[in-house]
Parts: sequence; C-alpha cells; structure tokens
Amino acid sequence: MQTVTNLDLRTITAEEPLRICFVCLGNICRSPTAEGVFQHIINKNGFSSLVEVDSAGTAAYHVGEPANSKSRMVAEQYGVTLNSKARKFEYSDLAYFDLVIAMDKENLRDLQRLDRKGQYRNKIFLLRDFDPVPGDREVPDPYYGGINGFELVYEIVLRSCESLLDAVRPHMKNGSDGK
Ligand code: 4NP
Repeated sequence: MQTVTNLDLRTITAEEPLRICFVCLGNICRSPTAEGVFQHIINKNGFSSLVEVDSAGTAAYHVGEPANSKSRMVAEQYGVTLNSKARKFEYSDLAYFDLVIAMDKENLRDLQRLDRKGQYRNKIFLLRDFDPVPGDREVPDPYYGGINGFELVYEIVLRSCESLLDAVRPHMKNGSDGK
C-alpha cells in the first residue's frame, strides 16, 4: 500500500511551527495516544520547537477528562506519558491546525462535514494514510474492549506516527531545532 509522502505544507520554522491535531471520537483513548507518541518522537528527534501537537474529539462526552487509564498504562510501558485533557474539536481548529489527523473513517467524515466548503480538505487525513503496514486504514476503537485492543492501538499509532514524521520532515527548514 502506498502511504502519503507528499504533504502540501508550507515551510516549517521555529517562528511558524507545524500545528498538528489528532482527532478521535472521545479524545480519551486513541487521539491522546497519538498526541503523546508523536510528541515523544518529535522530542527524541530534536524537533520540539518546530512542532505543536494537540488532540481533540468529535464528541463532547468526556470533555475535561484525562486519557483513559488503560491508554495511559500502555503508553507508560513505552516511556510515554499522556497528558491530555479531553476537548471537543471546534470549527476554528480547521483553520488553526496545518494537519488534522483522524483515527477512523467516522472521525474523518465528521471532520469533512464540519469543513462544509471543503476549503481545508488538503489538511485532513487518516492516521493510517501514513501506516506502512497494509490494513483497513482505521485505528480500531479500544474503548469497550480489553487491554489487547489498547496495545494494538499503540502499535498502529507508533509506526504510523514515525512514518508521519518522515512525511513532515522535508518541510522543516533546518531539519533540526534550528539551534
Ligand atoms: P476514543 O475512544 O474515541 O479513542 O477516545 C472512545 C471513548 C469514549 C467513547 C467511545 C470511544 N464513548 O462512547 O464514550
């Protein structure tokens, strides 16, 4: 399967960092995992001043809550702390963020519906558009299942976020923190 490699992005600098928002339904399981993992990868590669990472949900059920305890436990096993506080994705987020990355096709449809005129369509993707492993393009919702589902989410998110950084990297001005 061909993953997305040619992003339509401006040049990313410390003055104008890349703004990226991961989106799922509740903003307590999948998108907080993606936010934490991508931030971890960004920090590890020395790009922390070039990227601003956030997450949000298409629904408001869990607004104000921290990430799910199973999501946090799995991430901690990999040395990643999830610090999110759930919020609902707003229309204004479509203008603010450079990339809006949905976890499943329902999230994608909800975002596309919010983008009524289609003016932001070039910045909306599925996370698994970047997954080098073939699959059904969705990060499966782990909320009602056991720990295995959360571990699977972590694996998918990790390899997709690594590949997402590869797609973003050519747009970074200095290829480092610019120090
Ligand atoms: P998330 O998981 O979208 O990955 O945060 C869910 C969290 C809550 C619900 C569904 C999915 N819920 O129905 O409350």
